Amino acid sequence: MAFLLSRMGFPLWSGICLIVSTTPANTIVGNETDRLALLAIKTKITQDPPGVVNSWNNSYHFFEWKGVRCGHWHKRVTIIDLQSGDLVGSLSPHIGNLSFLHELRLNNNTFRGEILAEIGNLFRLQKLNLSINNFEGEIPANLSRCSNLTYLGVGSNNLVGKFPEALTPLSKLIYLGIHLNNLTGGIPPFIGNLTSLVRISASYNPFGEKSKFPWIGRYSTLYLPPGFGSMFPHPQILQLYGNQFTGPLPLLISNSLELVSFDVGENNFNGKITNDFGSLQNLRKITISDNHFRNGEPDELAFLGSLANCSNLEKLRMQGNQFRGVLPDSVGNLSNHLFYLTHSENQIYGTIPSTIGNLVNLALLNMYNNQFTGKIPPSIGFLQKLQRLSLDNNKLSGKIPNSIGNLSLLTKLYLAGNRIEGTIPSSLGTCRNLLSLHLFQNNLSGTIPGELLRISTLSISLNLAQNRLFGSLPADVGSLKNLMELDISENGLSGEIPSSLGSYTSLENLSLQENFFQGSIPLASETLRGIANFDLSHNLSGKIPTFLEKFALQKLNLSFNDFEGEVPMKGVFTNASAVSIVGNYRLCGGIVNQDGEFVAAVKVLNLQNRGAVKSFIAECETLRNIRHRNLVKIITSCSSVDCQENDFKALVYEFMPNGSLEGWLHSSPKTNNGQNEHRRLNLLERINIAIDVACALDYVHHQCHTPIIHCDLKPSNILLDHDMVAHVGYFGLARFCPELTILKQSSSIGIRGSIGYVPLGNKFSLTFLYFDICLF
Ligand SMILES: *[C@@H]1O[C@H](CO)[C@@H](O)[C@H](O)[C@H]1NC(C)=O
Ligand SMILES: *[C@@H]1O[C@H](CO)[C@@H](O)[C@H](O)[C@H]1NC(C)=O
Ligand SMILES: *[C@@H]1O[C@H](CO)[C@@H](O)[C@H](O)[C@H]1NC(C)=O
Ligand SMILES: *[C@@H]1O[C@H](CO)[C@@H](O)[C@H](O)[C@H]1NC(C)=O
Ligand SMILES: *[C@@H]1O[C@H](CO)[C@@H](O)[C@H](O)[C@H]1NC(C)=O
Ligand SMILES: *[C@@H]1O[C@H](CO)[C@@H](O)[C@H](O)[C@H]1NC(C)=O
Ligand SMILES: *[C@@H]1O[C@H](CO)[C@@H](O)[C@H](O)[C@H]1NC(C)=O
Ligand SMILES: *[C@@H]1O[C@H](CO)[C@@H](O)[C@H](O)[C@H]1NC(C)=O
Ligand SMILES: *[C@@H]1O[C@H](CO)[C@@H](O)[C@H](O)[C@H]1NC(C)=O
Ligand SMILES: *[C@@H]1O[C@H](CO)[C@@H](O)[C@H](O)[C@H]1NC(C)=O
Ligand SMILES: *[C@@H]1O[C@H](CO)[C@@H](O)[C@H](O)[C@H]1NC(C)=O
Ligand SMILES: *[C@@H]1O[C@H](CO)[C@@H](O)[C@H](O)[C@H]1NC(C)=O
Repeated sequence: MAFLLSRMGFPLWSGICLIVSTTPANTIVGNETDRLALLAIKTKITQDPPGVVNSWNNSYHFFEWKGVRCGHWHKRVTIIDLQSGDLVGSLSPHIGNLSFLHELRLNNNTFRGEILAEIGNLFRLQKLNLSINNFEGEIPANLSRCSNLTYLGVGSNNLVGKFPEALTPLSKLIYLGIHLNNLTGGIPPFIGNLTSLVRISASYNPFGEKSKFPWIGRYSTLYLPPGFGSMFPHPQILQLYGNQFTGPLPLLISNSLELVSFDVGENNFNGKITNDFGSLQNLRKITISDNHFRNGEPDELAFLGSLANCSNLEKLRMQGNQFRGVLPDSVGNLSNHLFYLTHSENQIYGTIPSTIGNLVNLALLNMYNNQFTGKIPPSIGFLQKLQRLSLDNNKLSGKIPNSIGNLSLLTKLYLAGNRIEGTIPSSLGTCRNLLSLHLFQNNLSGTIPGELLRISTLSISLNLAQNRLFGSLPADVGSLKNLMELDISENGLSGEIPSSLGSYTSLENLSLQENFFQGSIPLASETLRGIANFDLSHNLSGKIPTFLEKFALQKLNLSFNDFEGEVPMKGVFTNASAVSIVGNYRLCGGIVNQDGEFVAAVKVLNLQNRGAVKSFIAECETLRNIRHRNLVKIITSCSSVDCQENDFKALVYEFMPNGSLEGWLHSSPKTNNGQNEHRRLNLLERINIAIDVACALDYVHHQCHTPIIHCDLKPSNILLDHDMVAHVGYFGLARFCPELTILKQSSSIGIRGSIGYVPLGNKFSLTFLYFDICLF
């Protein structure tokens, strides 16, 4: 019909218009076989939430059905395109009747079951895209009958078995995607005969499974077949990442002259790279990362020299291997198109060659987690396009070169975990695009330059922790309003904490611990409420500010300060596992102590008793700075007034579940678990208790800075923990005896309080070798 029209002088498209116009349903136009096949396909689609195949009904002709396209001439189905349709179902064998089909796109659905061999009947098929489904079983050998196939995509399914050798006749194949399946048996050699192939995507298959390799039976590991390269002359993109290939880097890679990109990352390739890449003039990207390349020879990175001839190289990723050699000077001869160079996570040693400064187009240079020594070469300043520089976790020493300030596009600078010394160069202040700066764990000294704190782009992290920085924290730190993490802990910083920190709007982590800050915490700012982790341990004095109750804190560490007064009771302070206030001996009240759910013993002093206050002070003083596994730990002390304005003093001790030794010896022992145990101590337990007590006394007598005399050692003051380890407690009569060491031999030594003898039961009264003595 269209032919006639055109012969009659009508343009051909008018004929086409006629054919695609709406046609009444019951007029038979087109092929009934196709219609039946489509309906059969529809019945196998069990779920179709968007209603894609609703239109596949008899109200309209199938060439108007959604996702179906037909040839204008013959009215036969040529394309089925149901990609990304949220469809669930399986294939119908009727599909093999659509004999004019050129393209079948079912990708990105949830089709299950096998890829039916009937597809092999579609001899006109050019593109078959079944990727991202749940197809199971093997790739059917009958696909070999689709000899015009150019695109075969079955990646991201659950296919198993070997890639069928019968597919050899697919000589027109340009793209082959079999990635993310469960295929075994290696990349078969015949793929080398598919001379049109430009792109193979075979990543993430367990190809390397040993038992499935008949052709290399005597090897225990898989090698790419020896002839692979010569049979496979024109690959441009080769993706073999994420398999289990082992052995040396295949030579094919250096012989494939048209190679633009290859990726063998995440395999088990190993040994020394001896390939000569010099002739790969088109090569742009190389990925050999995450393998086991290494042979231990100092020149094992010499292959970088041959890459110098690849004048189009843009990306070189070699991180995560076991390279152990030195980085050759020839690294500087790599292409000046190179913008991405990663050799992090190896064991590369020696200095960073100053020729690195020749790679002036580098945007990313990752060298972290290696063994580099020596200085950061000043030539780094020539890399003016650098956006990210990671040299962290090496053994670099010397100073940070001033030229670093030339890197004005830098967004991330990571130099942490080295031995870098000297001051932080103020030239860093010219890196006006920095988002994140890590200089922690080095030997940096001097003050923090104000220029650094005025880089207002710093918004992710500024971490200068674990250095030897001193001086005050400049108020300029307030310029970093958008910062999420500020860590300047473990330095020698002093002075007050600048109140300008209160202008921060996004702070989540603030670590100021282990410095010499003084004064109060001037951070009562609304905008800081989002702060999640705040560590101020080992620093300040004063009161714990109640505004911290309003912050959305997940962790608050105020330990080992000299805070006094009451511990706030609301907000984060209700969550014992989130707050640490240990080592503040002048705090009282509060709900939290330490270690999450926590039971403590509280001794409230009866202040009417004579000497109670004195005894309280003695105990606080004594236990303030001593720690021993056989002493009862004081968690905190409390000195305040109660609601009737009476003085109130209490001591909070570590809880001892097994009660006092007295209880075990003289009554039916009542453990604090509420159970009465009628068990008696056995000899071993008694001896262990004696040894524990002796250790505690040895400690207070001889190991403390000033010897301490307990003066009231008796079974009721010896407490037993969960494991029956003895702890000496109640130092209320204790005395400091600086003279002890000199005078203990003298005749003026007397015994005070309890006698230095502790009964351990009727039959086992042990007399201590260590008498607990004091001077009158
Ligand atoms: C429909 O297609 C089938 C298979 O290609 C063919 O055998 C049959 O003759 C066709 N029928 C019509 C009416 O074109
Ligand atoms: C048939 O398809 C048309 C077009 O999408 C649709 O409007 C109609 O509701 C469908 N009929 C049935 C019975 O599904
Ligand atoms: C897959 O389909 C979903 C919608 O169903 C779509 O959002 C997604 O982008 C598609 N992914 C691919 C890789 O085609
Ligand atoms: C189409 O294919 C199915 C299954 O492969 C078959 O049973 C049927 O006879 C074929 N022919 C027609 C005209 O539907
Ligand atoms: C094949 O399907 C995948 C997954 O949906 C898609 O990313 C790819 O572009 C498709 N290929 C073609 C040629 O349509
Ligand atoms: C597979 O191909 C063979 C010819 O190679 C053919 O005899 C057989 O019928 C095909 N299988 C199906 C299910 O189409
Ligand atoms: C394969 O494609 C070529 C060129 O497009 C065409 O001439 C030939 O007829 C096709 N073969 C089949 C079996 O469709
Ligand atoms: C691959 O096959 C193995 C062995 O049959 C099986 O344990 C594993 O679950 C399969 N993985 C996938 C993604 O199908
Ligand atoms: C590759 O093709 C050649 C000739 O074209 C043939 O001799 C050889 O057997 C084929 N190799 C494989 C593995 O199919
Ligand atoms: C380097 O490349 C040139 C072409 O630019 C080529 O002539 C030469 O042989 C190559 N050198 C090596 C060692 O491959
Ligand atoms: C780098 O290239 C220059 C000339 O382009 C050459 O003189 C020098 O020897 C090369 N250096 C290395 C280490 O290969
Ligand atoms: C730093 O940059 C200046 C120009 O901005 C340039 O003259 C100088 O050579 C550079 N120095 C280094 C070491 O990069």
